[in-house]
Amino acid sequence: MIKGWIFDLDGVITDTAEFHFKAWKQLADEEGLSFTREDNEQLRGVSRADSLRLLLKGKTVTDQHFEEMMTRKNGYYQELVEKMGPEDALPGARELVKELRSRGIKTAIGSSSRNAGRVIELLQMEDIFDTIADGHSVANAKPAPDLFLHAASQLGLSPDECVVVEDAEAGVEAALAGGMCAVGIGPAERVGKAHYVYAETADIDLKEVMG
Ligand code: G6P
Ligand code: MG
Repeated sequence: MIKGWIFDLDGVITDTAEFHFKAWKQLADEEGLSFTREDNEQLRGVSRADSLRLLLKGKTVTDQHFEEMMTRKNGYYQELVEKMGPEDALPGARELVKELRSRGIKTAIGSSSRNAGRVIELLQMEDIFDTIADGHSVANAKPAPDLFLHAASQLGLSPDECVVVEDAEAGVEAALAGGMCAVGIGPAERVGKAHYVYAETADIDLKEVMG
């Protein structure tokens, strides 16, 4: 029986992909690296460090330079994020979480982002999630199931009692590896392995998923 829903943040609750793109693009320009919108698509759900590795395309840098670049990109990202407000929630997202809670379902965020807490605060959604599992919570990033397993345990639920909503291939893989029901948001080429696939968060059919 489903007792909890765990939501990825970027691309499910709000669309921060454009901010990540602008921040990585600024860093790439400064470092003389090529970076396109298509490249950015590959970074969906990918941790900050793994994103930088993809951006560097095999170029070797010192550990210190690597750390500095991650910090610089994050600074650009945070500047953009601070302009967000409640109106930046994706259509239907707030309503869906509220509806689940009104049915007694527990709700969590399961995001790879270390900025997830701040984004939820800016969206004014802190009080509709029981717990936030983020980029600080576990060592192994998606597609490892660790983050979602952590979120489930924070909710006091077993994996098979949880639904995970994800827009990234790595996130769907993480949910399946954790033995959870996966709802994919986006095209089938990206999230087709999920048990249920919808184009957008607003399209999620609760009756279909909950039975
Ligand atoms: C999410 C986004 C990724 C981002 C990652 C880490 O998964 O989809 O694009 O790289 O979070 O975010 P952070 O805010 O910690 O750099
Ligand atoms: Mg995402």
